[in-house]
Amino acid sequence: MSADSRDPREKEEMRRALETSFAAVAGGSVGVGVDVQLISEIHSDNPNFLERNFTPAEIAYCRAAPDPRASFAGRWAAKEAVVKAKMNVRPQGKNYTRGGGAPLIEIEILPGSSGAPVVIQHGGALENAREIGIAEIKVSISHSGDYVAAAAIALPGGKDFSK
Ligand SMILES: CC(C)(COP(=O)(O)OP(=O)(O)OC[C@H]1O[C@@H](n2cnc3c(N)ncnc32)[C@H](O)[C@@H]1OP(=O)(O)O)[C@@H](O)C(=O)NCCC(=O)NCCS
Repeated sequence: MSADSRDPREKEEMRRALETSFAAVAGGSVGVGVDVQLISEIHSDNPNFLERNFTPAEIAYCRAAPDPRASFAGRWAAKEAVVKAKMNVRPQGKNYTRGGGAPLIEIEILPGSSGAPVVIQHGGALENAREIGIAEIKVSISHSGDYVAAAAIALPGGKDFSK
């Protein structure tokens, strides 16, 4: 079968896999991001703010956590760290950020079976991750007193965000 007679979706998958492989070989394909957040700055008592920035599953998880305000703020910091890690893959590339006030709901962070947070992207966030050539982002969150911190690393290859 010639490449041109392939299904367009299959061709797109091949293109993406090649792009990711080339990026990995060329280097500079890993992105890092970090964020420190004062817990009191996150409006975790405001339902509109929560609905704009957190999915129902995230809200349920944080509300059930031992310190819900810290868990909301930690998740917020992790989402900001994810944005920074994505932009850090190609520091001289396109800026996909929409400013500090833009909603972060398209970046969802839920616990995996080990308890470690897992990043699931949706909508525009998923689209631009694919454009950048990122297949997986790992995050880590920490709470300490009045502050939370989060780190993120964007990686080529690996599993699809949408799963
Ligand atoms: C870029 C952004 C993450 C910065 O966050 P912040 O809390 O305002 O800033 P912080 O104090 O944590 O970090 C500042 C540092 O971020 C870094 N930074 C700025 N813009 C950045 C970008 N586009 N990508 C990566 N890092 C960036 C800079 O190094 C800056 O420090 P410097 O100015 O001294 O160099 C934030 O403004 C933003 O755009 N958030 C995402 C909103 C969005 O796009 N939502 C939709 C996502 S689905």
